[in-house]
Amino acid sequence: MIFFAATVALSLLGPLVNAQSNNSNSNTALGIAGIEANFQNAHIIPDLLSTFNPTAVMNVNFTGVGETSAGQNLTKDQVSTEPKLAIVPGSGFNESVSGSYTLVMVDADIVGTKETVQNQTCHWLVNGVTLGNSSSAEERNVSTTDGTSIIDYAGPAPADGSGPHRYVILLFAQPMKFSAPADLSKANTAVTTVNLTEYVSETNLSQPVAGMYFTVQQGTTNVSVPVTSAVVSSTLLPATASGSGTTTGASSKSTSKPNAAPRSGNPVLAIPVAAFLLFISYIYL
Ligand SMILES: *[C@@H]1O[C@H](CO)[C@@H](O)[C@H](O)[C@H]1NC(C)=O
Ligand SMILES: *[C@@H]1O[C@H](CO)[C@@H](O)[C@H](O)[C@H]1NC(C)=O
Ligand SMILES: *[C@@H]1O[C@H](CO)[C@@H](O)[C@H](O)[C@H]1NC(C)=O
Ligand SMILES: *[C@@H]1O[C@H](CO)[C@@H](O)[C@H](O)[C@H]1NC(C)=O
Ligand SMILES: *[C@@H]1O[C@H](CO)[C@@H](O)[C@H](O)[C@H]1NC(C)=O
Ligand SMILES: *[C@@H]1O[C@H](CO)[C@@H](O)[C@H](O)[C@H]1NC(C)=O
Ligand SMILES: *[C@@H]1O[C@H](CO)[C@@H](O)[C@H](O)[C@H]1NC(C)=O
Ligand SMILES: *[C@@H]1O[C@H](CO)[C@@H](O)[C@H](O)[C@H]1NC(C)=O
Ligand SMILES: *[C@@H]1O[C@H](CO)[C@@H](O)[C@H](O)[C@H]1NC(C)=O
Ligand SMILES: *[C@@H]1O[C@H](CO)[C@@H](O)[C@H](O)[C@H]1NC(C)=O
Repeated sequence: MIFFAATVALSLLGPLVNAQSNNSNSNTALGIAGIEANFQNAHIIPDLLSTFNPTAVMNVNFTGVGETSAGQNLTKDQVSTEPKLAIVPGSGFNESVSGSYTLVMVDADIVGTKETVQNQTCHWLVNGVTLGNSSSAEERNVSTTDGTSIIDYAGPAPADGSGPHRYVILLFAQPMKFSAPADLSKANTAVTTVNLTEYVSETNLSQPVAGMYFTVQQGTTNVSVPVTSAVVSSTLLPATASGSGTTTGASSKSTSKPNAAPRSGNPVLAIPVAAFLLFISYIYL
């Protein structure tokens, strides 16, 4: 029953999840709804974030992999170097008043981890990130080189047998008077654990404007983890005429931007229905 509800919910959200690849405004809105649903399904909400209302879609592009889909399983080698990031702002997106953003990547561990009672290993922390124009009209590059890289990107390497770890990348608008905590204010700080909730409130960052997550597992595990894999759009969507269903893996712009629009189902209905079903499946998990 639980899994049935989750499956139905996710199939309703299929077009939304996939739609993040389409650059038109309405599809960006669907992409935003899709990543929210993915965060909920993967229990990143509320394990790590009590709420998440992004106003942009985040594209994460690893060398040799291409743009990742939410929750995509990647190997340690695939994520060993810093990905290229971009965001596609939705209609609710406001430019940061300071023009700067803070980029964070933390290990939210496996589903079921009580992230509220333990700190998170921080794999990447850059203050003063800026957005640049990309070759694609709607996309904005996330430039980490203008900012202060407090913790340089450290590729995930979860312990063997510790299960599928969720690595969450978040982009926050920095307030005008941004001041980093003393222990996280200098470039080249070693990877460390942080209390993300506390960091966000202490530095007066507000809601993340965009976020994405991927999964890395090493070795096998018998730790039982609730379904999070179904969120990967390629496993959800029947192939369409434009050859979608292949959003994962090495992909060029053309194959990673399938037109998801003509799929059956009314997205206006699908969002609340799917949200309800995800909620039902969540409380039973
Ligand atoms: C964006 O700015 C407008 C106008 O100042 C405001 O009404 C709206 O709440 C802001 N949106 C977000 C997500 O902060
Ligand atoms: C992290 O910070 C929040 C907010 O200050 C607090 O409620 C929580 O207990 C802290 N967690 C840890 C592990 O210190
Ligand atoms: C980015 O594009 C906008 C709109 O075309 C333009 O106003 C702005 O100057 C550009 N920014 C940079 C850094 O090129
Ligand atoms: C943004 O992306 C475009 C296209 O990939 C690239 O040409 C440009 O150099 C990038 N700009 C920044 C600031 O990263
Ligand atoms: C969590 O991190 C905060 C600072 O971010 C620190 O004060 C606290 O001692 C840490 N708690 C644990 C359990 O490591
Ligand atoms: C955060 O905001 C509060 C209230 O406006 C202010 O007192 C505090 O100094 C700010 N903290 C930082 C780090 O800017
Ligand atoms: C995992 O499997 C091993 C070998 O079958 C067993 O000894 C261990 O208790 C299991 N751990 C869990 C968490 O089930
Ligand atoms: C990711 O890995 C897990 C564990 O092996 C598996 O259950 C899941 O189906 C995988 N997801 C994808 C999209 O391959
Ligand atoms: C990802 O980045 C590579 C270059 O590093 C680029 O060739 C490719 O087009 C990008 N993929 C997407 C989907 O933007
Ligand atoms: C995005 O979707 C719109 C509406 O369905 C469609 O007209 C447009 O061609 C799509 N764009 C891309 C790049 O697939």
